[in-house]
Amino acid sequence: MQVLGIIGSPRLGGNTDSLVDEVLAGAEEAGASTEKIILNKLNIKPCQACNTCHKTGQCAQKDDMADLLDKMLQSDLWILGTPIYWWGPTAQFKAFLDRWYHPKHEGFKGKRVILVIPLGGGNEKYARHTVGLLEDVFNYLGIQLVESVIAPGFNRYGEVKNDSGLLKKARKAGKEAAENFG
Ligand SMILES: Cc1cc2nc3c(=O)[nH]c(=O)nc-3n(C[C@H](O)[C@H](O)[C@H](O)COP(=O)(O)O)c2cc1C
Repeated sequence: MQVLGIIGSPRLGGNTDSLVDEVLAGAEEAGASTEKIILNKLNIKPCQACNTCHKTGQCAQKDDMADLLDKMLQSDLWILGTPIYWWGPTAQFKAFLDRWYHPKHEGFKGKRVILVIPLGGGNEKYARHTVGLLEDVFNYLGIQLVESVIAPGFNRYGEVKNDSGLLKKARKAGKEAAENFG
């Protein structure tokens, strides 16, 4: 099983990154191969709605998204992580998501996802627009959301690392998703 972690936060070693690392470690415990992508390190330009991808099969923008789409197609389970920024995902994550417009998204049917969403506010409800947005996208594309790790009340850099219960939950999510694959 191939597992791809995708980090939408610019803070390396921050809350999203730390939680996704735990999910990936859990999947590895169950024998999966893992890879982690940091969106902030890639060149992913916003969709221009030119429809070139639908006409030619190639995006008009020559950036890192073509390779990332292929990596996504080659993976069985995606760990998608973004913190909440103004009730939504980060700009890096939204630019990435908009680029799913490419017809290669037809190959996303049947892919599995674990969502990882830390947020500073003390209530899960502040993540509801982001969770709802992603659930609708997944339903539309036939992607299966297997687990969500929503972590309210974390603001400071890497603060989730102090919460052993949360880390355990993240690790378990990765382990179980890999064990139950197939
Ligand atoms: C630009 C910006 C906007 C934010 N907006 C929200 C918000 O609307 N609701 C919230 O609960 N937290 C908000 N936060 C706090 C982050 O979600 C929180 O610090 C999170 O743990 C960051 O995760 P990271 O360490 O992976 O970057 C915001 C942070 C930033 C930098």
